[in-house]
Amino acid sequence: MFENLNIVIGITGGIAAYKACSIVSYLKNEGANVEIIMTKNACEFITPLTLKTLSGNKVITDMFEKEDYVEVKHISLAKKADLFLIVPATANIIGKVANGIADDMLSTTIMATKSTVVFAPAMNDGMYENPIVQNNLEKLKSYGYKIIEPTIGHLACGYIAKGKLPKNEEIIDYVKALIKEKK
Ligand SMILES: Cc1cc2nc3c(=O)[nH]c(=O)nc-3n(C[C@H](O)[C@H](O)[C@H](O)COP(=O)(O)O)c2cc1C
Repeated sequence: MFENLNIVIGITGGIAAYKACSIVSYLKNEGANVEIIMTKNACEFITPLTLKTLSGNKVITDMFEKEDYVEVKHISLAKKADLFLIVPATANIIGKVANGIADDMLSTTIMATKSTVVFAPAMNDGMYENPIVQNNLEKLKSYGYKIIEPTIGHLACGYIAKGKLPKNEEIIDYVKALIKEKK
């Protein structure tokens, strides 16, 4: 079902970042071309090398790479993507996109794309319940962005509350349903 699809995975600096590795691996094995953009903070949690190895593609972490290339990467990725999946999505990326901020490669590419963008938020319950975050999520929905709701579960902070990234299977099922709908 993922053959010939270009899926861009955006990874941000949350504790659930490691879970993105299995999602990338699954999509790649199912035939998708998986391109990855990591924020600088995401690289504190997992390494671009892991994602490069799993996806078979160069991982983008820097807006102003010194390398010589002819394409403007954020525009080419924005155009070629069939789907963007931001997993995990921090309160920060949600706030930035909801408010028109494009100050790194991920937020700029999201700003430039006309493709479907799915956010999978994961964070501490205090952050998640913050009215500013809730308001930003509502804003994103009103602009047509898709949100996979976090679940109630054991958070990294050591207690059970809402803010946990749903199981990878649930995220993949959500993506599958979207792709079916698009087809
Ligand atoms: C150990 C640790 C875990 C974190 N986990 C989360 C998280 O799960 N969700 C979140 O929104 N922010 C989390 N943060 C805070 C983000 O890393 C921080 O807001 C950062 O600015 C996000 O940047 P980015 O969105 O550009 O990746 C965590 C920070 C630390 C130090």
